[in-house]
Amino acid sequence: MKNDKASNAMWGGRFDAAPSDLMAQINVSIDIDKRLYRQDIAGSLAHAAMLVKQSILTPEEGKQIEGGLKTVLEEIEQGKFAFSAALEDIHMNVEGRLKELIGDVSGRLHTARSRNDQVATDFRLWMRDAIAALVDDIEKLRETLAQKAALHRDTVMPGFTHLQVAQPITFALHLDAYRAFLDRDRGRFADCAERLNECPLGACALAGTSFPIDRHFTAEKLGFRKPVANTLDAVASRDFVLEFLAASAICASHLSRLAEEIILWSTAQFGFIRLSDAYSTGSSIMPQKKNPDAAELIRAKAGGVTGGLMQMLMVMKALPLAYNKDMQEDKPPVFAAFDTLTLCLRVTSGMIAEMTVNKDTMLREAESGYSTATDLADWLVKTLNMPFRQAHHVTGRIVKLAENKACRLDELNLADMQGVEPRIASDIFNVLNAQAAARARIKT
Ligand code: ARG
Repeated sequence: MKNDKASNAMWGGRFDAAPSDLMAQINVSIDIDKRLYRQDIAGSLAHAAMLVKQSILTPEEGKQIEGGLKTVLEEIEQGKFAFSAALEDIHMNVEGRLKELIGDVSGRLHTARSRNDQVATDFRLWMRDAIAALVDDIEKLRETLAQKAALHRDTVMPGFTHLQVAQPITFALHLDAYRAFLDRDRGRFADCAERLNECPLGACALAGTSFPIDRHFTAEKLGFRKPVANTLDAVASRDFVLEFLAASAICASHLSRLAEEIILWSTAQFGFIRLSDAYSTGSSIMPQKKNPDAAELIRAKAGGVTGGLMQMLMVMKALPLAYNKDMQEDKPPVFAAFDTLTLCLRVTSGMIAEMTVNKDTMLREAESGYSTATDLADWLVKTLNMPFRQAHHVTGRIVKLAENKACRLDELNLADMQGVEPRIASDIFNVLNAQAAARARIKT
């Protein structure tokens, strides 16, 4: 069917008709990529400056373009900019407005450039800032965990394996474990930022350009380490996107684990912690309820972030070089991962900062489940020079004894234990106590 609407002003030269409404609908990305406006304009300013320096544009043309781009930036920042779906994406929206502002000279900006190297540059610039912001939020959560841990170096809790009571540990040890997870998350993001910090500009559509451009100048102006050396690589690669999403998914999964523990710990059955009112919700029917909704949502949101990673792995697999429009689909999962992770990091930090810890309950539970059995076995090895396997067996029999008597290990009397192993002496009680056991194992 013939379409009488005008063809696209930016690329419509060889077209007789405009795209169908459905084509326009599937093609448009401005609602998503308008988020790149600042980076897009920064990239254009650097590119224009380079074109002037290389005498590809005159200084006068450069000045007009620069002034126009700055006006566009102001208009967007002040909410005065009318984004147009007909102009598809952020690159053509900015250039379209530039033309309205400065006329035909605006058309010179796209010399020695393509949207392919432009979008790759914009996205890398955006991601660099996004990573800096995420690292900052990770840092803040690590600080919250450190402050909480400092208050609980002597708070004894049961450590678990298989969610069965294993050995007494301190609450600080538990919180410090998450701090270590987050330290590596920060490292993964920093690695990603370091690797992506090369400039695609100058690759143009895929093959570079015959104009005498200076790619190092543009790269340096935008704070990149250097230009991406291979022009096909510059426009075709999105492993920086995959890496960002992988780092985000791993970090979100860490927050999800912590959220799950917060949910468990705040149940009446555990009773280890109490969430503050500020991070809980009530039930509309059961007046007694205080639900850990924030933690539950953090637990769930890791699924969405991981979904974004899977989505982009599937989009990128088997894509031929160089640019394909498939790659336009990279922005929604990345923006969503960034927004979600930022929120989850902040909420986790608030929840941890404000929760109260029931030390007595933690200690009582640490004393249950024969949690010092390993310490008893270690005592047998150290004091009686017993092979560990044998000590394990002897301890098992003592645990059985306590089970039969329905008491804790430190409630057994010496004679009971000597019935199993006559050489056991009264200093055994030093290690049967959960608090002492936890303290004895702290190495740092
Ligand atoms: N909006 C596009 C994207 O995000 C920009 C690049 C378009 N390039 C092209 N040759 N159609 O990927």
